[in-house]
Amino acid sequence: MAENYYVPFKSEVKDIIKHTELEYTFRMGYSGFVLPGQFFQVSIPHYGEVPISVSGIEDGVIDLTIRRVGKVTAEVFEREKNGALFLRGPYGNGFRLENYKDKELFVIAGGTGVSPVRGVIDYFASHADEVKGLTLVAGFKTPKDILFRDDFTRWQKTANIILTTDNNGGDSSYKQGLVTEYIPGLEVKDFGTAQAIVVGPPPMMRFTVKGLLEKGFAEKNIWISHERKMCCGLGKCGHCRINDTYVCINGPVFNYEQGKLLVD
Ligand SMILES: Cc1cc2nc3c(=O)[nH]c(=O)nc-3n(C[C@H](O)[C@H](O)[C@H](O)COP(=O)(O)OP(=O)(O)OC[C@H]3O[C@@H](n4cnc5c(N)ncnc54)[C@H](O)[C@@H]3O)c2cc1C
Ligand code: FES
Repeated sequence: MAENYYVPFKSEVKDIIKHTELEYTFRMGYSGFVLPGQFFQVSIPHYGEVPISVSGIEDGVIDLTIRRVGKVTAEVFEREKNGALFLRGPYGNGFRLENYKDKELFVIAGGTGVSPVRGVIDYFASHADEVKGLTLVAGFKTPKDILFRDDFTRWQKTANIILTTDNNGGDSSYKQGLVTEYIPGLEVKDFGTAQAIVVGPPPMMRFTVKGLLEKGFAEKNIWISHERKMCCGLGKCGHCRINDTYVCINGPVFNYEQGKLLVD
């Protein structure tokens, strides 16, 4: 574990899981308390530093599922098993499981948006008696973009899983349609308490939240994770600041009552 939470520490790449050409999970050595939805600042000297959410938590190990988009993430993809990355964190508030316990929980996630919420789904799929039903609607662009395939197989034993693709490429074994198309059909018993978590690219989050509100969900029962560009991750540099809110320390997970005020 890092002795000083602000100082980067060297972490060994224990394993690399290649989901697609552009998305790999790096299984990193880490011992310490961390919540799903929290993030680490991942760095490589001379290249830079990027915030990455924790996608899995196990004894002595955390998973970081990374999409290769630019300079730093491309360099991260050059690492091999037994190589190393520098990490600092965990930062941010994360998803608090107690907000969802004993309630119906609906998770709607798009693409790599499944990563930050994977720990929440994993927990309630394996402790099904702690929620009054778990539904996951997960959307990916095409079948070859689907992440965490083994997890979906495991989760569907105890949860209602709707896995969809924007375009199934003619393979009818995959559902086709945007995640928003499945919202009207969700079976909700009690809108007073039912909780929804929405994570994904900004347009997907905007239309999903709109669909949930139209369906009858209360703003206070919707949770979003806000991926704003960050620098220090510590509430010091102001990069992530919107009015009086620092996304890096007050978020990235927000209740929609507050989160709706943070849309740029
Ligand atoms: C709290 C938080 C959690 C994140 N979790 C993950 C994660 O789990 N997995 C993952 O792959 N990525 C995650 N990201 C996004 C990730 O930090 C960026 O993709 C990364 O910083 C890009 O760095 P780069 O040097 O590779 O790309 P650059 O060369 O800096 O940029 C390449 C492209 O990526 C875009 N980009 C840069 N930063 C961001 C950003 N923060 N959000 C969206 N687009 C960006 C740029 O505008 C540009 O178009 C997260 C971001 C935040 C703020
Ligand atoms: S990233 Fe520096 S204040 Fe939030």
